[in-house]
Amino acid sequence: MNGQAGFAIVIMAAGKGTRLKSSRAKVLHEIGGQPLLAHVIKAAMQIVPAEDIYVIVGHQAKSVQAAVAPLGVKFVLQAEQRGTGHAIMCARPGVQRYQNILVLSGDVPLIRPETIARVRDFHLAKKAAMTILTAEPDDPFGYGRMVRAGGDRVKAIVEQKALSKAQQKIREINSGIYAFAGKPLFHHIDRLKSDNAHHEFYLTDMAALLVKAKANVVAIKAADPAEVLGANTLAELASLDATMRARKSNELMAAGVSIYRPETCIIDPEVEIGADTILEPYVQVLGKTKIGSDCRIRSYSVISDSQIGDKVLVRPGCIIDQSQVAAGALLGPYSHLRPGSEIGEGAHVGNFVETKKTRLGRGSKANHLTYLGDSEIGAQVNIGAGTITCNYDGVHKHMTIIEDGAFVGSDSTLVAPVRVGQGAYVAAGSTITEDVPADALALGRSRQAVKPGWARQRRDASSKARTGG
Ligand code: UD1
Ligand code: CA
Repeated sequence: MNGQAGFAIVIMAAGKGTRLKSSRAKVLHEIGGQPLLAHVIKAAMQIVPAEDIYVIVGHQAKSVQAAVAPLGVKFVLQAEQRGTGHAIMCARPGVQRYQNILVLSGDVPLIRPETIARVRDFHLAKKAAMTILTAEPDDPFGYGRMVRAGGDRVKAIVEQKALSKAQQKIREINSGIYAFAGKPLFHHIDRLKSDNAHHEFYLTDMAALLVKAKANVVAIKAADPAEVLGANTLAELASLDATMRARKSNELMAAGVSIYRPETCIIDPEVEIGADTILEPYVQVLGKTKIGSDCRIRSYSVISDSQIGDKVLVRPGCIIDQSQVAAGALLGPYSHLRPGSEIGEGAHVGNFVETKKTRLGRGSKANHLTYLGDSEIGAQVNIGAGTITCNYDGVHKHMTIIEDGAFVGSDSTLVAPVRVGQGAYVAAGSTITEDVPADALALGRSRQAVKPGWARQRRDASSKARTGG
């Protein structure tokens, strides 16, 4: 079967979003770190498999398609955007074989899968030809308004510009989310007319059309109007983003995560955080990041697409990107973990330390002013302040290997490819260009010269010159 009870989901995303005054297609604007359309598709994917989801693209079709193609949905091109009704006409060849069709708007991104399921179930229970999800937001201005016929039944949807004086008082709006029985929809859709303010074919006119054909058109109201809000300005988009962020932090707090001043934190929807972890103000946790329990993430840290174990302390100002941090590690302040960093259990990465494609073993420490790139560092290694792996020769990147228990003195440069053996010492200030055997001491610096009295003589000479003596 094609999805539950033969449902397809059509997502309308071909419009330009003129009112945003942006050159980017509206559905590509982001909230919660993802394009509006991606949120709608992900909600839809909880209801039917991706192959039963048809996304209608038109304005900037290529970019829109590229942004969400990895989700595996189908696309329908609406070359000319002649209205929401016309969008569904374009989808007809793909979806007329389904018994029922759920229609979502690509610019109504806070919709929850549970609510889509409610619309579906209500539609089936009422054996309706058309079911409309409605809401009563504080400010209904700009939305199509519901003209009810009594009870669940609907008489018509009237767009803002066509509202009579009396209809302007109607507070119940059309959310732009519908369920249709396929047969009556496609039997009547060609009767839509474009004799309206925008010269478009409005899908909303299907309500009155179907009622006229004696079909059953019903409405179901969303419990939470915030879920069906759209955005016509960038300020309204920012408020949808805030709603989505608040929803996420509330979910986390309900599951035992402490977030101090949640309104200052930015947490993407797919982030997972374990109980008893604390997020301080102004933290960002982005992408597919997973943080264990009992961690503390201090202010101004930005963590993206990373895995962090339990009991990790991230001090203020760290940037962690596509990296892994094992339990009990200690980072920051101001550590920069670039992609491919793997910090071992109980390891320390300190102030102004940058790592990239580097494994730092269990209990190892790199506490100050260091760059570790393309390196494999064993357990219980001490990396002194100011150590630099010279991993790049201008053409290729090379590996630095530092084995268990080694000690690298401060201000050493390790010119890769190079290996420091187990338990070896590198003297402070060394430039290491050759492998250091296990347990050896390597000195890679010139011997210190001392010239006794040199400074005093220089002072005496210059004071004579000044006094002319
Ligand atoms: C629409 C409804 C309105 C409802 C509101 C809810 C119509 C005529 N009006 O108005 O009753 O209150 O949504 O948010 O449907 N689109 C296409 N092709 C087109 C035109 C639009 O795919 O030719 C897409 C848009 O990209 C958008 C969605 O359909 O994702 C809705 O279109 P939009 O122009 O935003 O309609 P609204 O004015 O918001
Ligand atoms: Ca809209």
